[in-house]
Amino acid sequence: MNKYLVIGNPIDHSLSPRLHNYWFKENNIKAVYEKKQIKELDIEGIISDIRNGKIKGINVTVPFKKSVIPFLDKIEIPEKTQSVNTIYTEKNNLTDTNKIIGRNTDILGFKYSLEHIKYSIKGKKIFILGAGGVTPSIIYALEEMEPSVIMLSNRTKEKAKNLIKLFPQIELVEWGEIRNFDMIINTTSLGLKENDKLPIDYGQIGSGKFFYDVIYNPKKTNFLLEAEKRGHQIENGKMMFVFQAQEAFRLFTIDLLNVQSGLLPSINKKVLQLLDND
Ligand code: ATR
Repeated sequence: MNKYLVIGNPIDHSLSPRLHNYWFKENNIKAVYEKKQIKELDIEGIISDIRNGKIKGINVTVPFKKSVIPFLDKIEIPEKTQSVNTIYTEKNNLTDTNKIIGRNTDILGFKYSLEHIKYSIKGKKIFILGAGGVTPSIIYALEEMEPSVIMLSNRTKEKAKNLIKLFPQIELVEWGEIRNFDMIINTTSLGLKENDKLPIDYGQIGSGKFFYDVIYNPKKTNFLLEAEKRGHQIENGKMMFVFQAQEAFRLFTIDLLNVQSGLLPSINKKVLQLLDND
């Protein structure tokens, strides 16, 4: 049986197996997708399991999206993002060997999540909170959509500064300070726990803004609840998650089904419901 994995730490919360197993079944593909909590030291062994065929493909989540990179044969990601979330194989029919490729489908996932709700970034003022693992992918996607300005604030200023070295057009904002924006994006992990609160003075923010949280579980973080109460538009990270998974599935099935562009699985009501019931 062909086996796929999502690796991370922690990994319990991951809904990737639910989605991918549904898609395998829906398309009559004999494969199984599991989750595995790993340590940094396990990465090398897991990648060699791809080489020896025990595993066909992998999704990577926090905190290993960067540390898997040295073990891959080829990375096809924007270098600035330093983030691989999908690892799959590509067969060379001439030499009959497999290459292990790393891709970043978070970028596309974020972009498609905005297209899905028809929100246009062009000319908008964007304010990003956080400078963690997923943040560079979001910045990369945003820059392609031509905002007028991107501002960024992170509790640890040094990390924000390091990110701005890679994306020099970003404006650094002090943690706790709020600038005028059209769209604010929470890329921190604050909100995963019920009592988590970001330092935002909502009274200081005008009306009609767009609040986007990368977190999708809980469905509405305090960040989104507070914004919704004040009539702002809100969006959680669910569609970003679904679209990144859809693209990963497509990449997985190129080799698995031996079809040139892989199989793009459907995103329908049933798929979305899979992520709702716990
Ligand atoms: P990593 O930083 O290892 O990539 P991450 O989960 O991808 O981990 O990112 C965590 C993000 O959430 C960071 O921006 C982090 O801020 P710091 O750089 O200051 O650590 C932010 N974060 C996590 N807990 C936070 C808290 N209690 N207050 C403010 N920001 C927090």
